[in-house]
Amino acid sequence: MSCIEFDFTNMTAVKNGVPDKDIAAAKKAAPGIAAALEEKRHAHAWRALPATDEALIADMEAEAARINRDFDSFVVLGIGGSALGSRAMFTALKHLKYNELPREKRNVRFYVADNVDPDGLSALFDVIDPEKTVFHVITKSGNTVETVTQFMLASKLISEKVSDIKNNIIVTTDKEKGNVKRIADECGFKTYVVPDGVGGRFSVFSPVGLIAAAVLGIALREMPQGAADMHELASRPSLNENPAFMYAALTMAAMKNGANINVMMPYADALKDTSEWFCQLWAESLGKRYALDGSLIETGQTPVRAVGVTDQHSQVQLYTEGPYDKLITFIEVKNYRTELEIPKAPVPVYDAEYLAGQSFNKLILSELYATRYAVTRSGKMNLLISLEKLDEYSFGALIMFFEVATAAAGEFLAINAFDQPGVEEGKLATFALMGREGYEKKAEEMKAAKKEDESLKFVF
Ligand code: PA5
Repeated sequence: MSCIEFDFTNMTAVKNGVPDKDIAAAKKAAPGIAAALEEKRHAHAWRALPATDEALIADMEAEAARINRDFDSFVVLGIGGSALGSRAMFTALKHLKYNELPREKRNVRFYVADNVDPDGLSALFDVIDPEKTVFHVITKSGNTVETVTQFMLASKLISEKVSDIKNNIIVTTDKEKGNVKRIADECGFKTYVVPDGVGGRFSVFSPVGLIAAAVLGIALREMPQGAADMHELASRPSLNENPAFMYAALTMAAMKNGANINVMMPYADALKDTSEWFCQLWAESLGKRYALDGSLIETGQTPVRAVGVTDQHSQVQLYTEGPYDKLITFIEVKNYRTELEIPKAPVPVYDAEYLAGQSFNKLILSELYATRYAVTRSGKMNLLISLEKLDEYSFGALIMFFEVATAAAGEFLAINAFDQPGVEEGKLATFALMGREGYEKKAEEMKAAKKEDESLKFVF
């Protein structure tokens, strides 16, 4: 694999950088971590994704062809790990104004509805025709209230236009559990499976993301190779030979030394949703109250999404001059899909004439190198991941890199990186507030816990 470079010079060679003793400790721990991950491999089916199962790929391609032939739009209904991966892939690999392109230059329009904001949902239905839309309902548990209610709305609106809604709905869920599986079976919806051992945030290369990929015309057979090649690298037991372990070791050592924030800053609009996907992966996997041995640990590193150069004019002031509480993961794309010259303007452009004839490509990368230089000079830790170019292969590799890094970080912290117990309480409380049967006690408990103190609020 020679499509990605990972430069971690500025994690150690800066003031307040990761001390040598922490790197030495990580080197010692790495073989044990590789062994622990290997031992759990049967439970980590995401490591073998994307599926190279020819029958499944052929099935998804046939479904994609049907959708592109008969429909105008494709909408993902899901939330969290069931939505962010598809959106990341879409933004990374398709035209950045894809939906606005004329039909002959694109496949069906693509949307991800990952909220229950009434304004957002009605806005979506203002621009799509339910009759001409396929909705991909994605939920591993099959019980997520946001996804189920989105399905209720979509199915109602489709049924107002067509007598059989089956053609407009496909489902991806657990092979047997959950209400959505039951609904899909009863209604005869085309159904795909989120394999066992594949949690939401690790599921982009299962049918959760691959159906969108097929619909969008993304090469299903290229991504597996990138992911598989990275997986091989990321399984090596030696820290010096394993970039994903190195990423985990350095970020976790930095956290131990006070860097509680990890800013993910790609210099590419195409990677801004990958940055958002990473934020969920890192936050939900590593933010944990208890260690595996049950001790209270309350750990986690806060991921922050940023995009270069845009956020140079928003966040970088803080990063250079603010506290030593963060590290920055810069992502570079050496070769953009487009080469765009800065032309000579037809009017005088004072102090900017020297830029004419150069390129936006050079400008954005110069700004990346300049910002990295400034951040490093101010003594702040940073990492640089460089992609030769952004394509199916390197996207597959990048996703696998962060997934294994997250699993390894979980091992360094001795936590379970694959659950999300902290989200449960809010889910149960929502059921209570929405009047679900069996949650009356929770509703009472919430009522009793509600503190109303007029002196502690402003009313404007
Ligand atoms: O990463 C995760 O596991 C979560 O973010 C889930 O994807 C999210 O809560 C949605 O769950 P489900 O797919 O069960 O509807």
